[in-house]
Amino acid sequence: PCVFVLNGPNLNLLGTRQPHIYGSATLADVAAACAVTADTLGLGVRFHQSNHEAALIDWVHEARTAAQAIVINPAAYTHTSVALLDALNAFEGPVIEVHISNIHKRESFRHQSYVSLRADGIIAGLGTQGYTLALQRVAHLLAEAAR
Ligand code: DQA
Repeated sequence: PCVFVLNGPNLNLLGTRQPHIYGSATLADVAAACAVTADTLGLGVRFHQSNHEAALIDWVHEARTAAQAIVINPAAYTHTSVALLDALNAFEGPVIEVHISNIHKRESFRHQSYVSLRADGIIAGLGTQGYTLALQRVAHLLAEAAR
C-alpha cells in the first residue's frame, strides 16, 4: 500500500523557520524518517511539499487512485482552505492530520481546522515525530481494513 505524505506552505523552511516552535529537523530529515518508518511497516510512501494550495489539492486528487491513505500537514491552509477539505472529502481512505506544534496552545486562529472535519485522527504538538507516528496509525488502519 502507498501513502501520500503532503506538506503545505512554509514547511520547506523547516529547521530554520522559528526553530523554537518547529524544531531543528529539516523537511528532508522528516522525509528520510518517513521513508525508513514506511519501509519497516511495509508501506510505500510519496512525500510532497508545496507552498501552493492548488498543488496540494492536485496531489489529493492523485491520491484517489494512487494511494490508500494520506498523512497531511496542511500548515496554514489548515485554518483557511475549504477547497482542501472538499478535496479530502473526495478521498476514500484514512486521512491523518499532523501538526508539528500544538496548535491549541497557540493563537486562537490556529485552533480551528477545516481539515479536522475530514481527518480520521489528528496529531499535534509531538514535533516532527508526529509524521512517523501517523504512518504507524495508517499501517494499523489499513491492516484492520484488509481483515
Ligand atoms: C503547523 C501549524 C500551522 O498553524 C502553521 O500555519 C504551520 C505549521 C504545524 O505543523 O504546527 O505552518 O501546521
